[in-house]
Amino acid sequence: MSIHPSEPFRIKMVEPIQLIDPETREKALQRAGYNIFGLKSDEVYIDLLTDSGTGAMSQEQWSGIMLGDESYAGARSYQRLSDTMADIFGFKHFVPTHQGRAAENILCAVILKEGQYVPSNMHFDTTEGNIRARGGRPTNLICEEAFSDDPNIPFKGNMDLDKLENFIQEVGEENIPLGMITITNNAGGGQPVSLENLRGVSEIYKRHNIPFFIDACRYAENAYFIKTREPGYKDKSTLEIAREIFSLADGATMSAKKDAIVNIGGFLACNDPALFEKIKNELILREGFITYGGLAGRDLDAIAIGLREGLQEDYLAYRLGQTRYLTEELKRVGVPVIEPAGGHAVYINAGALLPHIPQSEFPGQSLTVEMYREGAIRGVELGSVAFAYPDPDTGEMVYPELDLVRLALPRRTYTQSHLDYVVKVLERIVKKADSLRGFRIIKEPPLMRHFSCIFEPL
Ligand code: F0G
Repeated sequence: MSIHPSEPFRIKMVEPIQLIDPETREKALQRAGYNIFGLKSDEVYIDLLTDSGTGAMSQEQWSGIMLGDESYAGARSYQRLSDTMADIFGFKHFVPTHQGRAAENILCAVILKEGQYVPSNMHFDTTEGNIRARGGRPTNLICEEAFSDDPNIPFKGNMDLDKLENFIQEVGEENIPLGMITITNNAGGGQPVSLENLRGVSEIYKRHNIPFFIDACRYAENAYFIKTREPGYKDKSTLEIAREIFSLADGATMSAKKDAIVNIGGFLACNDPALFEKIKNELILREGFITYGGLAGRDLDAIAIGLREGLQEDYLAYRLGQTRYLTEELKRVGVPVIEPAGGHAVYINAGALLPHIPQSEFPGQSLTVEMYREGAIRGVELGSVAFAYPDPDTGEMVYPELDLVRLALPRRTYTQSHLDYVVKVLERIVKKADSLRGFRIIKEPPLMRHFSCIFEPL
């Protein structure tokens, strides 16, 4: 048995949850077109759909909300966020945005032209969608180890530096308006990127005059992985590690709904003053004035406080320990999981659990539906539903390497007994895995289909 870490907090506000009966669950599934995004939260018992905006804020954050300054321009709340941003990230400029994808949209609007490429270790789907929506070509250059089942590889989120160099030679640096990296790599198991790799990536982008932007959603979790896994960092604080990470980049996008432990918010930061002028204009047009960016003043205070709490090391030890606990327990009952455990989520290899379901029939979707049916647990498919796309040149479907189902852990929200319940439900599913069937998509939007497509069981 693995050990669940003790929480470095106690609970002083509760939100009731309930387990509805199997018949009502079946009806809910049918109504939702077998897409778990169509379920009502009251129909879900343990909601592991996402760690985004679903965490519990602290008493300090709630107090900060009461101090929010709602002035349209130059609010004190903005100043407090600005001070925190300077201290942790150190970029010359930033704007708040209402969430991560708003930052991605603005960045793509001001920097990207049709037909241009944007390399990364792996883009998350909103980043990929924002690049494609402007006619760009997102390109994933993750290291080969990412697909290894060796549980001892510490930094499976690393970019393959040779692939990056070759890619730039191949398409030409003039066709790459920005380069990115996602920390931790959400689309690839929540796996971290090492500082050594970040330095290598930064050096390559710099040499080719390509601005380097970090997708910083889970930078604090990544920093703690560096502290505990990378030689030379165990005596550095997570704050020092974060500063070193961002000193290598020209800018960042962030959804504060992750490592800043807030329910809404994000930012776009950069060093280049000319680029920042364009960003400001685009922000004012689409989101709001530059000192609030589509958020309330109180939200900025919650972010400023959450950014610091998200870096606290007792919290990060608990947070990553909880993910590790669920990973190890699922493995113990025979569920194939991505190892080592990622930061914010456990990733089940649905392709390996359901080898009789081909990628075109969505093994991850099958498992996602079964988890809800069996235990009212909501996870999310991150496989062929979320990531397969028709090749722009040939029109042929390109399938992702792995069909995963992600169980994301909201921050400071569920306890050990909740996780033990999840393990019991999955243990039952493992025993009847052979009987699960695939799905067919009968309706889908042009981009990011997993949010709203409708399925039919096969
Ligand atoms: N980048 C990464 C790595 C993400 O994980 C997300 C969101 C975004 C960007 C976009 O941020 O949602 O605030 O617009 N990920 C959520 C998830 C949705 O469930 O993983 P957003």
